[in-house]
Amino acid sequence: MKKIIALGGSNSNNSINKTLAIYAAKQIENTEILVIDLNDFNIPLYGIDLETADGIPSEAIRLSDLFNQADGFVVSLAEHNGSYTAAFKNVFDWLSRINSKVWRNKPMLLMATSPGARGGISVLQSAKDRFPQMGANLIADFSLPSFFDNFTENDISNKELKIDLTDKINKFKIEI
Ligand SMILES: Cc1cc2nc3c(=O)[nH]c(=O)nc-3n(C[C@H](O)[C@H](O)[C@H](O)COP(=O)(O)O)c2cc1C
Repeated sequence: MKKIIALGGSNSNNSINKTLAIYAAKQIENTEILVIDLNDFNIPLYGIDLETADGIPSEAIRLSDLFNQADGFVVSLAEHNGSYTAAFKNVFDWLSRINSKVWRNKPMLLMATSPGARGGISVLQSAKDRFPQMGANLIADFSLPSFFDNFTENDISNKELKIDLTDKINKFKIEI
């Protein structure tokens, strides 16, 4: 059975991006979903001096090994001040020291959401620019604005947005 990683780019226990990533991944039938919660990986703040002294943290290697096993990635990025959260960027930086093709040339559905009307569009654009250089086979991207208006009772309540995301999930499905 194919295995996909669902990842929210946040260390919030109640991450809306983790919720969205899991929601989208669950639409893909006959697939094992591995939910990655950044809180489950005890990874110190990246620094070249720390890396030189101690090498790569074992928890970063553990996560990288999980990336090796995946057939695709469903990622939803939280936006902090227009960019990646510190928690995600830290993990991303460590992973890039293990394998610069962080996303292993595997298909990715890339998303972002926020409570605001811009829906994390800035971090989404940063990732769209950068991730393909880091091995992402970017199949589709999607921003969900105003999360708490548009996502209720564990579903996307806005009809147009739901159709748009379903279409993108279907495109992703045939690539994994
Ligand atoms: C330090 C900080 C900066 C933020 N900056 C932005 C921002 O630039 N754009 C935005 O849409 N939301 C911003 N937010 C609100 C987040 O989108 C909101 O906290 C959201 O729940 C984060 O996603 P998560 O629940 O997956 O962690 C910010 C929140 C914090 C704590």
